[in-house]
Amino acid sequence: MADAGLADIFLPYNILGRAKLERLLALHRRVILSVTADSLETIEGLAATFTDAGHRLSVLVECDTGMGRCGVQTANEAVALARQIDRAGGLAFGGLMTYPAAGRAAEAEAWLAGAKQTLAASGLACERISSGGTPDIWRSSKASVVTEYRPGTYIYLDRYQVAKGVGSLDDCALTVLSTVVSHPTATRAILDAGSKALSSDTLGLADFGELLGISGARVTGLSEEHGTVTLSGDSKLRIGDRVRVVPDHCCVVTNLFDEVNLIDGDTVLETLPVAARGRTG
Ligand SMILES: Cc1ncc(COP(=O)(O)O)c(C=O)c1O
Repeated sequence: MADAGLADIFLPYNILGRAKLERLLALHRRVILSVTADSLETIEGLAATFTDAGHRLSVLVECDTGMGRCGVQTANEAVALARQIDRAGGLAFGGLMTYPAAGRAAEAEAWLAGAKQTLAASGLACERISSGGTPDIWRSSKASVVTEYRPGTYIYLDRYQVAKGVGSLDDCALTVLSTVVSHPTATRAILDAGSKALSSDTLGLADFGELLGISGARVTGLSEEHGTVTLSGDSKLRIGDRVRVVPDHCCVVTNLFDEVNLIDGDTVLETLPVAARGRTG
């Protein structure tokens, strides 16, 4: 992201371990940087690495507002961590961050508003409250206690977002182009897109993807290089046909390809590298 020219980067993650902390410090010298922490261990690592009181690292406290993933469980824990952050010479308490459970934005909002009050009662200002998630972005209100929003999937959308009511299948911009390599029975076709192309992350959906323009054609099974499509008996699919599959979760699919083609109909307008692909370590 920094190499691409972004100058203000929020890494909403607990960064641990010497190697990653050293890289974080190098990044802090290049861009305006902020991170999150939800434990003393994370704060201790950050505090030992960032020691320059003239150029503090902004650290937001991550809050579990219903997702059941990372995050402090109570407002009082947030206060304790905020104090710990401010006590470290090279860190500054930057506010609160959450990744709310899909469909539970109101609950997250109430949690954050309460925590902001508890912080204020303890003499801690909380200027930044960061929330995120595409499913509820359209429902977030202007009167919210949240000061910034981190949407990701919105850029393409996928079948999970359609299931959450964010848009229709036509709004899904990312598809995986694949070829019918076998059609062993009237109701079964096999694609050359398996878990290495579609990922096996269904986000709770019953199948792995859906074929554009072929009514009811779903990817019902996956092995690494094969996708099994279940069809109605009168399908017109033929071996060699090229089909576009809308995946369940576009974020993981993006990470599986070196390049993405921007298309208009069948015309490729531009091919872009997926520069951040695989940069997970
Ligand atoms: C911490 C965090 N923030 C923001 C996002 C973006 O969420 P979405 O892709 O639903 O827009 C994610 C997605 O995984 C996330 O984990």
